[in-house]
Amino acid sequence: MIYPIGDFRFPDAASRLYPQTAERPWVLEIGFGDGRFWPHSAATLDTPPNYLGVELSGVSLLKAHRRLKTAGLDNAILTKLPADVLLREVVPYGGLDRIVVNFPDPWPKAGHLEHRLLRVPFFQLAASRLKPGGALLLTTDHDEYFGFACQAARDSGAMSVELTEPPPAALETKYALKWRDLGLAAQHAHFTPTARPHVPHGDIHTYPEDPEHVPHAILTLPATFAPSNFDKQTAREGGWTVILLDLYASLRRDGWVVLAHVVEGELTQEVLIGITGREDGSHLVRLAKFGGPVITPGVKAAVGAVTDWLEESGGRVTHRGY
Ligand SMILES: C[S@@+](CC[C@H](N)C(=O)[O-])C[C@H]1O[C@@H](n2cnc3c(N)ncnc32)[C@H](O)[C@@H]1O
Repeated sequence: MIYPIGDFRFPDAASRLYPQTAERPWVLEIGFGDGRFWPHSAATLDTPPNYLGVELSGVSLLKAHRRLKTAGLDNAILTKLPADVLLREVVPYGGLDRIVVNFPDPWPKAGHLEHRLLRVPFFQLAASRLKPGGALLLTTDHDEYFGFACQAARDSGAMSVELTEPPPAALETKYALKWRDLGLAAQHAHFTPTARPHVPHGDIHTYPEDPEHVPHAILTLPATFAPSNFDKQTAREGGWTVILLDLYASLRRDGWVVLAHVVEGELTQEVLIGITGREDGSHLVRLAKFGGPVITPGVKAAVGAVTDWLEESGGRVTHRGY
């Protein structure tokens, strides 16, 4: 099953995600590529654990989804998100039995090391989301990144490192085969949590059922209002950047829609914010449900940025609900 971000809870629970098999172990694979690892791994077990796979590439997501469906792996959820967003916001404290990373992108250039996944904050986050007795398994052909990751695990103060043979299924992935064909050997590390650092979940929520809880504002626009002064505009604060990209007029009713791009760390969302005429002559500014947005400080700020722009254009704000 493919889950967009809006289908998760923050944090979520194995009992909700896998209601038929909640008691089974729970495995997260990061950067599953075309999805070859999990069918190979699950085939070695009597009952396949619950599987959560996270990947940045949409093409890979679809390939892996087909592969897991063909293998009959029903208790598998795939999602297209940055791994650290999924791990921090969706996975509960102490939720996972295993985290698997096979052949992560090595980012070998000196100036690009901050793009690497396996750095100190990641190990602390992983340790906080693994069960006691859980483990993070890394397999890679890249010797320098391997050493870097092992050192980062030790520096995190939260993981011990054991070097062992890779699990056979990790040697059947697309990149394992690619590097093997080039004569490169894979290295494997088994990281075990030695502490449970407190890495809190962020301020992130599913789109509310109750319209009162959807970020919104009510205002009265001048009779002469025409949104001719709309320009692309950017607002930034602490953890978020909001860019109001464009404005579209509704042909069916009194109103407009603003397209906004919201960036918060690794998480980016494109959201629509409606500006709709109400019966009493006022206008409602509200985050649209379209596209399955999740509510974050940045998304609330986007609703605020639209409201502020309307206020600067002569509107009188009577209520802010964000
Ligand atoms: C070198 S490929 C390896 C794919 C697969 N594990 C294999 O062994 O064939 C690395 C994969 O990690 C994914 N990836 C990179 N950074 C990621 C992140 N922050 N979150 C999720 N996936 C990521 C990439 O899109 C890519 O598919």
